[in-house]
This record gives sequence, C-alpha cells and structure tokens, in this order.
Amino acid sequence: MAETDAYRLPRTVEPERYELTLKPDLDAARFSGEENVRVLIHDETDVIKLNAVELEILSAELIEDDGTKLAGTTTIDDELQIATIALSGTARRGAATLHLTFSGILNDKLAGFYRSTFKDDEGVERVIATTQMEATDARRAFPCWDEPEFKAVFGVTLIVDEGLAAFSNGAVQDSTDLGNGKRQVTFVDTMKMSTYLVAFVVGPLVETEAVDVDGVPLKVACVPGRERLTPFALEIGAASLRYFTDYFKIPYPGGKVDMLALPDFAFGAMENLGCITYRETALLVDHERASRLEVERVADVVSHELAHMWFGDLVTMKWWNGIWLNEAFATFMEIKAVDHFKPSWERWVSFGLEAGMAMNIDSLSSTRPIEFPVGNPEEARGMFDLLTYQKGGSVLRMLEQFLGEEEFQVGITQYLNKHAYANAETTDLWDALEASSDQPVRSMMDTWIFQGGYPIVSAERTGDNEIRLTQQRFRYIDNASDKPLWHVPIGIRTDTGIKKVLLTDESATIALPEGSTWVVVNQRSDGFFRVSYSSDMLKDVLSNVDQLDSLERFSLISDTWAACVAGQVSISDALEVAKVLRNDDDPTVWGAVLAPFRMLDKLVSDAQRPAFRTALTDLLQGQYERLGWEKQAGENERASTLRAVIIGALGTLAEDDGVRTEAARRYHAFQTDEKALDTDLVDTVESVLASTNKAEFYEQLYAKFSAETSTPQEQVNALQSLACFTDKAFVDRTLGMILDGTVRTQDAPYTLRLMLTRRPTGPQIWEWCETHWDTLMERFPDNSIARMIDGVTAQVDAVLAQRVETFLKAHPVPQAEKMVEQSCERLQVNVAFAERNKDVLPALF
Ligand code: BES
Ligand code: ZN
Repeated sequence: MAETDAYRLPRTVEPERYELTLKPDLDAARFSGEENVRVLIHDETDVIKLNAVELEILSAELIEDDGTKLAGTTTIDDELQIATIALSGTARRGAATLHLTFSGILNDKLAGFYRSTFKDDEGVERVIATTQMEATDARRAFPCWDEPEFKAVFGVTLIVDEGLAAFSNGAVQDSTDLGNGKRQVTFVDTMKMSTYLVAFVVGPLVETEAVDVDGVPLKVACVPGRERLTPFALEIGAASLRYFTDYFKIPYPGGKVDMLALPDFAFGAMENLGCITYRETALLVDHERASRLEVERVADVVSHELAHMWFGDLVTMKWWNGIWLNEAFATFMEIKAVDHFKPSWERWVSFGLEAGMAMNIDSLSSTRPIEFPVGNPEEARGMFDLLTYQKGGSVLRMLEQFLGEEEFQVGITQYLNKHAYANAETTDLWDALEASSDQPVRSMMDTWIFQGGYPIVSAERTGDNEIRLTQQRFRYIDNASDKPLWHVPIGIRTDTGIKKVLLTDESATIALPEGSTWVVVNQRSDGFFRVSYSSDMLKDVLSNVDQLDSLERFSLISDTWAACVAGQVSISDALEVAKVLRNDDDPTVWGAVLAPFRMLDKLVSDAQRPAFRTALTDLLQGQYERLGWEKQAGENERASTLRAVIIGALGTLAEDDGVRTEAARRYHAFQTDEKALDTDLVDTVESVLASTNKAEFYEQLYAKFSAETSTPQEQVNALQSLACFTDKAFVDRTLGMILDGTVRTQDAPYTLRLMLTRRPTGPQIWEWCETHWDTLMERFPDNSIARMIDGVTAQVDAVLAQRVETFLKAHPVPQAEKMVEQSCERLQVNVAFAERNKDVLPALF
C-alpha cells in the first residue's frame, strides 16, 4: 500500500463551485456527466489533481478568466483514486473553470452512484439510481476534490426520463421538458459543503405533501404503495427539526428536507444535506402494526440524521480521524431528541445497552482510541464502529453531565457558529466548551479520546464516612504492563446525599455524605467506566437494590459479568447478582441479566442442559407470571418490551415447552385476528417458533418474508426468524436464498451474522462463509463484512476460534482491519473463559 500522504490531494487548486450535470441511464446501468468547476489556483501549475475512481474522463479543459483555454490529458491512478490532468500550458494564479466530461457505471455495491431495484405492483422490476458518497465514494459519481475540507457549492442538474422523480440536495429550481422523452431538472445551489454530502436520486418514487416546519418544507419519498407508512417519519422529522433548531439556536442550514426510503441501502441512513437517504426499515413504519422498538428505531435514525444537518453538514471535521466528532455527537443528540419526543421510552436507559456493547469492544487489547489516525479510504471506512458511535456518544453524555446541560449547550452553539460552513477539529470543540464552562475540558477529554480502553474503579469502605476509590484499566485479558489513567468524573450517590468528584490520580479517599449506609459509585451510570465494590459494599448495595435507578441496576450486573469474563469474579457470584435482579421491571436491566446465560448456553454440555434450562426458567418464571401475554391496563410502554424479552428467553434459551405451545397457539390465532397478539410480541413469537424447527413455521415465515403486502419490518423480521432455524434442510434453504439473490445484499450479511450466532450450527455456517468467501466479498456492501464476521464471537469453541483466526489472516478485510482483529480477540476471550471454568460448570448446573 502507498504512503498515507500519497492519498491526499495538493491544495494548489481548490474548488469553489461545481456546476454538475448528470444523465443516468437506468436500464443500461450507466451514466454520463459533465461538470464546470469554478476553481481557485493558488500557485501557477501545469497539473491539476482530483479524485476519480471507476470513471472514464472523456475530456478535460481549463478555461482561464481571460478566455485562454488549456487542454488537459487525464490519467487515473486506480490505487490512489487520483486523476491527474496534465495541462497543455501553465495555468496562472487566480480563478478559472475546469470543464470535464465523463461517464461511469451505476454499480450494485450500494456505494457511489448505484442501482437499487424493486418490483412494482405488476411484478415488473423497476430501477432507482441513487447515491451514497460517504466516506470517499463521491469520486465514483463525478471527478471531485473528495476530501471533507474542500468545501464548495454544488449546482446540480439531472437529465431524467419523463415520469421519474428526481431529488438532490437543493429544492427544484427549474424543470424543463426536453421533448425527447427526457426532462431536465435543475436544483437550487447548495450551501458550501463537503463532497461526501452530495446526493442525487432518480427513479419511480412517490412523495408526500410537504409539512411546513416553521418555514422548512419536510417531505418523505418512497416506492409506490408504501405511502401509508410515512406519517410517523413526518411526525418525528418535524419534532426533531424543531428540537434541534431550538437546541443549537441556529436555523436549519438547508432550504428543504426530503427524506427518501430506498429499497437497497448499505447503512441505516445518510445525512446528505436536505436529501437524507434511508433504508426502508429506518424510515417507513406502520404505526398500527409495528413494535414499539421499531417505531423507536425510526425516531432514532431520523433524529440522528437531522442532528447531522448542523453537526457534520454545517460544521464538518477536517479529516476522517475526526469522524468521531460527527458520529458521536449525532448519536448523543439523537438520544436527547428522542428522549424529549417521548420521555416514557426512557431512551437514555436503553442507551446503556449500547454503551455496554462499546465497553465490550473497549475491553480488548485490540481496541483503539476514539480518535485515531486515518490515511487511506479503507481506514476511513473502518472508523464507523461502536467506539466512534457508542463510546463517543457515551463520553459526550459523561461530559455533558459533568459540565451541566446548559453550559454544554452554550459551548456547542458557540462552536457551531464559529465554524459554520467550514471545518473543525476536536480541539476546537474543547476550546468552546472550556470557554462556556470554565472547566478543564481538554485535559479531561484527552484521556478519553486519545487513549483506548477505560477504567474499572474499585471502591472500598475505609471508614464510617469515607471510601477509597482506585482506578485501573479494565481488560478481559491484560498482558500489557503500562498503567494508563483517566480523568474520571464520578457521581457518588448514597442514602443520604450525592457527591461529585473528578478522579485524576490512581486513587483518592473520598468523604461520604454524613450517615451513609449504602453507596452507589457512578450515579445513573453517567460515566464510561465500570465499578468493582468491595464485598461488604456490594452486600449493602444488593440489599438496597430497590433504591437504585435503572442504569445503576444495569451496571451492577453488567460490571459483575464483565469482571467474571475477565476472570476476576466467579460465575456463581455473578449469577447471584443476576438473581437479586429477578424482580426487576426494566427491559434494559434484563438485557444484562440474560447476557451470562447467552454465553453459558454455548458452554454447558448436553448432560447439563436440562439443569441449565431449569435454572433459567426459575429465574424468569416470576416475570412470566406477572406479565403474561397481554398488555395490562395502566402498564408503562416499556412493559411490553420486557414481556417480549422474557417470553423470548423462555421460548428460545430455556426451550420452555409451555411457552412454545402458547406461542404457536397465539400466532395461529393472529393469522386471522390481528388483535390476538400484541404488536410488541410478534417478532419474538416468530423467533420462538423458529427455534422449534417445524416446517409449517418455516413456510409461514417464508411467505411473510416474500409477501409484497408485508411492511419492511415484517419482511426483515421474518427473514431474521428464518435465520434462527437450525435443522439442516432449513439452514440450506436460507443459505440458498442468500446465494441466489432472494435476500437483498443489504440484508444478507445480517442474516448470516445471526446464523453465525446459533447453537449448534454457528461453526458450520462459518465453514460455509469460508467456502463462499469470494462471492460474499464481491457482492456485499464493504461496511457490512465486519458486522457479519462479528456474529461468530457468540461462539465459545477453541477449534473454531483458531480456524477463524487462520482464515482471516489469509483473507484480510482491508476496510475493517481493526474490527476483524477485535472479533478474533473476542473469540480468544471466550476460549479462555471456557478453559478457566471447565471444572466449575458441572457443579453449577
Ligand atoms: N453518516 C452515517 C452513515 C455512514 C456510515 C456513512 C458509515 C458512511 C460510512 C449516518 O449518519 C449514520 O450514522 N447512520 C447510522 C444510523 C444511525 C442512527 C446510527 C447507520 O447507518 O448505521
Ligand atoms: Zn451519523
């Protein structure tokens, strides 16, 4: 691979405005284009370099302002993705116009300018041409200075077939019938922005009426027939736009907002200014039939992308090492906006599970700092992971709670105003927050942003009114001898008061509020760290568990289980903590309570399994009796989410016959009576039925997956359930659907991911992936590969761990090197855990 710097463009010539015309041919899967780029030449030069890949540049010419024309000869370096235009003379300093004509392909890899397809109601395949530029694929759609710092104005024109809708970042300025079956659509110029935010979409899409959000028109577009699934997107879109305008104290920076649901989409959604693109499940939802979590997902994604309109689009990171700032901030704002929209969803509580997933990765030696050097496009792609989003979002929440919500907000507004229409770095954010809060933000945050990992804080009582806190890096397997420290903001809550400290040294003695009996360290789990209590402190906390808030209870079991995986706590002690929480009514807490059982499920022998199932049933029985199958009058909205968690665990992990029979009975009734099953239970019941491996259910779910009348969520849920069958005939059928294209490439990696997690078939699925590796790599979107592989980390098997590692060494995944390394290490952690506990397990079950 070339030197990192070789991938960067020189600053000699800078674009100011692109006048861009594109003419996609949907049937031929090609496009042609033409651009006039207004450039500023800072030093006289006879070459111009810009990015292009898989494009053919047909002609190039530089026109100086006095009319002098310099002909250009273009060569493209495929590795560096740089086009070099050699000019016929020397261009002088000053402004000029670069005129290029080019052509390219509408690819099927869901990147750059690509093709998405669907069947219309006559069963005819229709094509949409659409874009996904981030991180570095704008260069596949048009030659450009494809680095976030080269901000410019984009004036887009699309030439499309009559009858097709056309969208771009700006509003339609002009639409002219060209008479030859074509229409020319010109869009209003964008603000100054980065290339990765450019979008154009052409296809047989339909759009809703615009909702007027205090002067900003907001619309949703989708394929025909799905219009009835748009009202919720408009509702949350309007609510979030208002929320952010108010929070940032800056008007929405674009002219309009279109939100487009596309049948093929690599990610969840993309924040193109004014033209936000989504996968269908992230935007379209049937409010009557969807589960609460599916509606919440739409609220999350819409809010996340709208937050980017300010944080990301208006102010942009200088370079991809700063992507965490974009994504962590959008994640943080997403949760804030959704929490404001629907406080009863307790979104900050469920975010605890997401932060926990990031901690899981951050407990590995192969973790990385949140901010990390990035050279080439592949390294940029590797940055979109749990550490960027969830750890990043979580440390911002920690900082906000430490500084105060108001001080934090004021600093953010200052930061956005100062860097509007330009680029910024992490350090600029700290400057603004230091100014607004008068706190040492930089020295604290540097410890969280520039070093990987996180601490575990041990607490022991050293006197009646005193505890001693000690920080130490937490790792599942720690072979390193360095002793990093963090500046840890710690909220200490006791029965008599609250105390806040910033632990900067290895340890400190802290005076407690007078007369404290029990002590919670890490109040509301605001801090991104784990806690280890001395045994007497733990006893006090456990016997007052009803005094703790949801996230404090969540962390109690989550921290204990992590310590158990690291070999610092025994399995039986961890299970004791789980048992204390058996009466908990919070679904997030139960997510953590069940984690140990999901891992042990892979470990217990056939002989132990009945006892394992009994122990689990015993733990869940009280909740099952309390919650039953139906919504109860007056219960909170999250109760049915918990009901689904409990029924799901009983029906699958505990293989409870009673629950399985009842699931089948209710699902049968549900086929003719939609009221027979709570919407929050449908998905869970389907996975329970799948776990019974009965042909009748496979057929039923297959029909639901294939039916055009199913909602996007119903189709994906049915597909996920098909992935839960473990009998060979069914597994083969599902794998066949992946290979023959029945399953879209946007979904197939996640189907395989789930299949990789199954007991006992996961290891065979891995072998199948090895056999079909080249096909999968060629077809699946680049970003999905590491997520697919990560499914295998649910397995606890030494032979498999070795096999996976050997295979991935020989078959590197360049766009996700770190993530792959982390999956391999996680498998080693599982193997070490199994080895350590092999003599303990028989006594437990
Ligand atoms: N900017 C991202 C989309 C993206 C991710 C582009 C990776 C290029 C590489 C977008 O804002 C995003 O974060 N989308 C998330 C959904 C969000 C709700 C977390 C996604 O696509 O998963
Ligand atoms: Zn994002």
